[in-house]
Amino acid sequence: MRVLGIESSCDETGVALYDSEHGLLAHALHSQVAIHAEYGGVVPELASRDHVRKLLPLIKAVLAQAGVARDAIDAVAYTEGPGLVGALLVGAAVGRSLAWTLGVPALGVHHMEGHLLAPLLEANPPAFPFVALLVSGGHTQLVRVDGIGRYQLLGESLDDAAGEAFDKTAKLMGLGYPGGPELAALAAQGSPGRYHFPRPMTDRPGLDFSFSGLKTFALTTLQGHPQVEEQAHIAYAFQEAVVETMAIKCRRALEQTGLKRLVVAGGVSANRALRERLDLLAVQRGGQVYYPRLEFCTDNGAMIAFAGALRLVAGEQREAHSFGARPRWPIDQLAPPVA
Ligand code: KG4
Ligand code: ZN
Repeated sequence: MRVLGIESSCDETGVALYDSEHGLLAHALHSQVAIHAEYGGVVPELASRDHVRKLLPLIKAVLAQAGVARDAIDAVAYTEGPGLVGALLVGAAVGRSLAWTLGVPALGVHHMEGHLLAPLLEANPPAFPFVALLVSGGHTQLVRVDGIGRYQLLGESLDDAAGEAFDKTAKLMGLGYPGGPELAALAAQGSPGRYHFPRPMTDRPGLDFSFSGLKTFALTTLQGHPQVEEQAHIAYAFQEAVVETMAIKCRRALEQTGLKRLVVAGGVSANRALRERLDLLAVQRGGQVYYPRLEFCTDNGAMIAFAGALRLVAGEQREAHSFGARPRWPIDQLAPPVA
């Protein structure tokens, strides 16, 4: 089954074609970073308008890249939520219209399920069950995963998401948008032991996170040490605190569930320090960690095509002729595919 995937939940337009027998045939991404950069964050209306401009050309490019005609598409999967409502509606409208024109099914996919399943696109994918750490710009969650749509939320951030903490702290430091990768690059020039940030909520049991205090801690540290040469060391200590906190919670989640496999996905899973720390955790515990390839850590169409294909191949059907977007959509409300 060939599934066209469309991602438009935030500030990237992603399109991909996934074949359930032959794997990923083609994918393309358009980033809106240049549009939002001057505002220091995503402007929702500008995001929607750019998806309108870029989606159809990207679909054409992906079909050309795969050497596949439009009528060879067997189904369309699009991101239904969570995300920005206007941006989601663009993908839903285009996806559903295209599917209706072609006479094929269309399926709304959960964005975080897309992230969660992205590591399964790689060679040697993890078997179920596993623990997933989902770390994106909008979510930080630990989930027990027993199969597609069988998700038990173990813990989540009570305030800022991990990516959001990176972005806000980067902004305080005068770095560009999106701040995560820039802060990580600055931290790579910093040294250990110069500053120490707290590891929030690690001194009590539980698997929830809280990252907003780290941003405030960064602000006071920066005010106390305004010299430019201190910035890299402060960035290092901030990143170390986020990474160490996540490693502590991942170890707890693995101990609590008795599982050995850990999947890490979402934009922050591209972070090198986080990967090194979690790889070490796996070595210490005798388990294994799985990540998406770097380009599929952040938003992309491939994860949506893939998640849609897994559900459609399992027999899930949604023939509704109306469509909507779900800006808020908790992942543990998902169910296994139904035939
Ligand atoms: O998954 P994603 O592309 O979008 C959402 O679903 O939110 O995640 C984007 C987030 C941003 O906050 C970005 O700063 C962060 O992921 N990010 C990083 C890195 N690359 C992306 N954070 C830290 N280190 C990175 N290397
Ligand atoms: Zn995302």
